Amino acid sequence: VVALVGLLSACGAPEPTEPSSHAYLDDRAFRRRELIASLTTTDNEYAADRLTHYATGDGNDWDALPVFNPEATPLSSNDLDPTTGVTASALARAGTPFVLPDASAIDDLGLVRLGGLAFFGYPVEPLPLPATLLTPARANELGLWQSAEHGVGGLVLVRADDGSVHPFMTCATCHAAPDADGNVAPGLPNGALDVGAMLGGGASASDPAAAPFLAWGPGRVDVMTSDGSLPVRIPDLRPTRFLTHLHADATVIQRDLAALAIRIETLLVGTAADVSRPPRLVTLALASYVTSLAATLPAAPSEPAVFRDECARCHDGPGLTGAPRPLDVVGTDSAVGLSVERGTGFYRVPSLRGVSTRGPLLHDGTIATLADLFDASRLDDGYTNARHRPGPVLGHEFGLDLAASDHDALLGYLQAL
Ligand code: HEC
Ligand code: HEC
Repeated sequence: VVALVGLLSACGAPEPTEPSSHAYLDDRAFRRRELIASLTTTDNEYAADRLTHYATGDGNDWDALPVFNPEATPLSSNDLDPTTGVTASALARAGTPFVLPDASAIDDLGLVRLGGLAFFGYPVEPLPLPATLLTPARANELGLWQSAEHGVGGLVLVRADDGSVHPFMTCATCHAAPDADGNVAPGLPNGALDVGAMLGGGASASDPAAAPFLAWGPGRVDVMTSDGSLPVRIPDLRPTRFLTHLHADATVIQRDLAALAIRIETLLVGTAADVSRPPRLVTLALASYVTSLAATLPAAPSEPAVFRDECARCHDGPGLTGAPRPLDVVGTDSAVGLSVERGTGFYRVPSLRGVSTRGPLLHDGTIATLADLFDASRLDDGYTNARHRPGPVLGHEFGLDLAASDHDALLGYLQAL
């Protein structure tokens, strides 16, 4: 049984307002109140960890950690050698810390622009692959895209305190991918990225420690457990501003820009194993930038009657999303929603904006395409089209018994989103 704090009180899209964004930078008491108000439940490890360490003002406060802003430089296609991986000259190149303007001199638009630079430039965590193995062919196999504008998979080369240089992922490594025209689209999930294969590092699938990571497959990452047992698909960040709750299991209430900034800030402390924290101007800028990505979504066509009848009670409003639903109502695999790490007893309702251009689908990425999701044979024992695992894909059994004309109208609509 989970204690639900404020799950039902959250309403609609966050408003990026001036006072809360700056209070986030300057006012510890504000950050503490905002953290507490943005936790869906206090009864999971995600909440407990933050309540112990975030803006506490005592000896446990993550504020005392050193700020992480190392020398970094973007990695370009020219830096990769077909046999030796990242070239010696790239590893010797001088980098610079992420440039931080004076917070009092920056307006809302400046914050979004800074966030765009951080999205592709601020180092998040080491790529779990030695630089010498990062050949163009291996990069391609692992789903690291290459682009003239944004380099290789959004990776940056980071100099450690001991002088050694290593490729780091940025937000863009997971949360940007080439669109249908081949342009790298920020926010679009990188469904080809295979972090699990990197972590499995050439071990055989029968190695019990490596097996869970090798089972992730492309487009899935476990940001919850240390043993890798609960991967979720990388979400689409373009519709973030429409969401009332963040994470597949609705762990965070997205009240406003500060709640999103705190989510990003605390995540970066976690990926740094609690030894450093990001500059708060960077996390506020990232939150502003992520919120701005909704403008890159295609306009939604008007809804067919079948959608209003069968779907709009959950997928509603300009973002085609809504309040989280209990696990038993949704019916998809409940392991993530029940987890002690992040579970709330609910799954959030994903925004359907942009759904035709992303994949895989469902929180655990078990479905490849919209046609597969609305194919009733996915409930059959003999079903073989699931991603990552054999057998049927149960749950979300809405719109599966429609007349053929309604089925076609529904799919046509979804495929235009
Ligand atoms: C290694 C891949 C990876 C990297 C790097 C990464 N993320 Fe994520 N991100 C994920 C996954 C996976 C989730 C889904 C977590 C969940 O649902 O519990 C996620 C969720 C999110 C969410 C919540 C979105 C939603 O729909 O619930 C936001 C916001 C976000 N990430 C922003 C960022 C930002 C900003 C950065 C850079 C500082 C970043 N992420 C770096 C993999 C990544
Ligand atoms: C009772 C609420 C509810 C109803 C009704 C509902 N959905 Fe959903 N929908 C959800 C939830 C919750 C999820 C996420 C499930 C998960 O991740 O396991 C979801 C996921 C989806 C997805 C996958 C999106 C993605 O990014 O992975 C699509 C597509 C979708 N719904 C379309 C529809 C359509 C079309 C209908 C009507 C035929 C419908 N839904 C009816 C709650 C609902």
